[in-house]
Order: sequence, then C-alpha cells, then structure tokens
Amino acid sequence: MLKIPSMIILGIETSCDETSASLLEVKNKKTKVLSNVISSQVKLHAKFGGVVPHLAAREHVKNIGSVLELAIKDFNPRKIDLIAVTVGPGLISSLLVGTAFARTLAWKLDKPLVGTNHVKGHIYSNWLAPMGTTRTMLPATIFPALCLTVSGGHTQLILMEDYERFTPVGETLDDAAGEAFDKIARILELGYPGGPAIAAESEKPDGARFELSLPRPMLNAKNFDFSFSGLKTAVLYLTRDLTKTHPLKKIRHDMAKEAQQAIVDVLTAKTIRAAKQYGARTVLLAGGVSANKLLRAQLEQRAIAEKIKFLRPEMEYTTDNAAMIAMAGYFEYAKNKKADWESVRVDANLAI
Ligand code: KG4
Ligand code: ZN
Repeated sequence: MLKIPSMIILGIETSCDETSASLLEVKNKKTKVLSNVISSQVKLHAKFGGVVPHLAAREHVKNIGSVLELAIKDFNPRKIDLIAVTVGPGLISSLLVGTAFARTLAWKLDKPLVGTNHVKGHIYSNWLAPMGTTRTMLPATIFPALCLTVSGGHTQLILMEDYERFTPVGETLDDAAGEAFDKIARILELGYPGGPAIAAESEKPDGARFELSLPRPMLNAKNFDFSFSGLKTAVLYLTRDLTKTHPLKKIRHDMAKEAQQAIVDVLTAKTIRAAKQYGARTVLLAGGVSANKLLRAQLEQRAIAEKIKFLRPEMEYTTDNAAMIAMAGYFEYAKNKKADWESVRVDANLAI
C-alpha cells in the first residue's frame, strides 16, 4: 500500500507549447489545486499549422518566470515541499527550458525535485478537482484501470494495475489521434489546433449533404494497436474528389463529422475490448483529445453498459497543464523518495 503523506507540490510543465506552473496541496488524502497558470502559444504556432520547436522554446524562456510568479503569488516558496517537472516525452528544446529552470529553483530553494513523465501526468489529471475545490483521493478499488491516453503526440492503451505499475497494451503505429484531428483539419482548412476545430464544425446545425463513409482503421484487428494515417489519406482523396464539383465549405461539415465519428468509434471499441480482456474495473480517459465531447460521451456510455466505472479529467485539465504534473510527481516521490535536482534528466522519448 502506498503511503499518502500531506505536502505542497509545485508543478512545472513545458513539454510542448504550453508554459505552466501550478501549486497542488495533498492533505489528509484529499487533493486541492491552489493555482494552475497556463500560458498557451497556440496563436503563435497557428500561423504555421503546427508547433515550431525553436519558437516554442524561445517562448518558454520568455514566459516561465512570470508564469511561476503568478502561480505562487503570495505563497511563501519555503513552504513548498516538492518540485515536479516534466522530463519527457516531448520536444527536447521545450523540455530543456522547464527542466533547467526547475533544477535551478530546486537548488536555490533547497527542495527535492522529481522528473515526471508527461503521459503519467495526463493519467493523473483524473485525480484533480476543479481549481480551489477538494477531492478525496481515488480509492485503490479503481484498479486495475485501463487508460486511454490520447494527445497530439501519443495514443496508447495503458493497463494501470496500481499506482506503480503501468503496462502499455496497445499504441498507434503511425499518427496519434490528436495528430489525425490536426492533419484532417488542415485538409479541411479549419485551422490549428484541429481537434477543437473539427469538433466545433461537426456540432454546427448544418443538414447533411453527403452520405460519407470513412474507414475505421484496425477496428477489428485482434490487437490493441491503432493506425490513423490511412483515415487522413481517405479524407484527403475524398475531399479532392468532392471539391471537383462542390466548394470546400459545402463539404466541411459532413467530412468533419464523419472523421470525428470514425476516430471516436475506433478509440471506443478498442478501449472497451481491452478493458474486458484485462478485467479492468475502470476505464480512464486522458490527454488533450479527452476534451472531445463525443469521445467522452460514447466511451462513458459503452463503459457503463459493460458495468465498468468511467473516469475522465475535468475539462480544465485536459490540455497540457502543470497541476497534473504536480500530481504525477507526488506519486513518483511517494513511491521512490528519490528526488535530488542533480539526477533529473530530460528524455524526449521517455517511455511510460
Ligand atoms: O495533450 P495535449 O494538450 O498536447 C500533447 O501532449 O500532445 O494534446 C493536444 C491535442 C491536439 O492534437 C488537439 O487537436 C487535441 O489534443 N484536442 C482535441 C480537442 N481538444 C484538443 N481533439 C479532439 N477534440 C477536442 N475537443
Ligand atoms: Zn499532453
């Protein structure tokens, strides 16, 4: 059994294009996010249709000091018990900014520092209550849990047997689910990031004009891997054909809706199948794509039908944030108690 000590954790996240710092309190087996400041670079990268690594790093350097200042405001930094920073996976130049900053801070304040896995952070976002409110720590009876982690960089099914054991049971062979949303949005000229744009387009009350049918790649494959690049190519070819006779704006709604449905159908079916095979008590959703309302609703409905508990993060913790990193760092520390700033190293391809 993991001991749950009370402490204040400072989280720092810079793995991609969000600079974030957060204070998290764990007290009497309850969690409370005291602050969670996020400086997003979405507007900067939107012009380029995706994240430009060296520009992202430059923005992190520019913003990290003021983000930290806002996050700790009147709080006495001496009262921080632990610092947690994302060390991977992510963009190497972005990761280096947050890690160098956190190491310096830990040295200066003489506090323990743990390096945190970003994907574990997304999983632990499920432990967090809306900012300023408290939530009792999830009980060990949620395990074994099957986690669907879907973001711009990752799509994985992870079996979580307890706080310490994470076993990947399936992953994407090519594009991540978020990447598929982003690339399809680019084909449909819907802007970046693509996920929210496709979701918004699908929800428009436009009547259907076309009977579109896109593939559900690997839906019936026996393993728990995914593949989304074929779906993107199918969207490209179908859009190319249809725009010979119709303007793009007439096609967009139907194509966005069918593409979103195809992605959600595959993610839902394989997650539920894996949960049943591994005897999971809980299905847990995590990562940027977990903000997708259709995915949340469809997965919840299917899990409940199978009498499996369903957990998903609060909307405010779906995209990259430091509160989830503080939570993951807390468990890492509770497990290992290993936390000296000198041994914290970046690993852009860090596995779970
Ligand atoms: O976790 P995240 O913020 O960054 C990474 O670690 O990659 O995930 C970003 C991804 C983007 O690909 C974005 O398009 C997708 O999450 N996303 C969504 C939605 N909101 C964000 N995808 C589908 N529906 C959404 N509502
Ligand atoms: Zn992420």
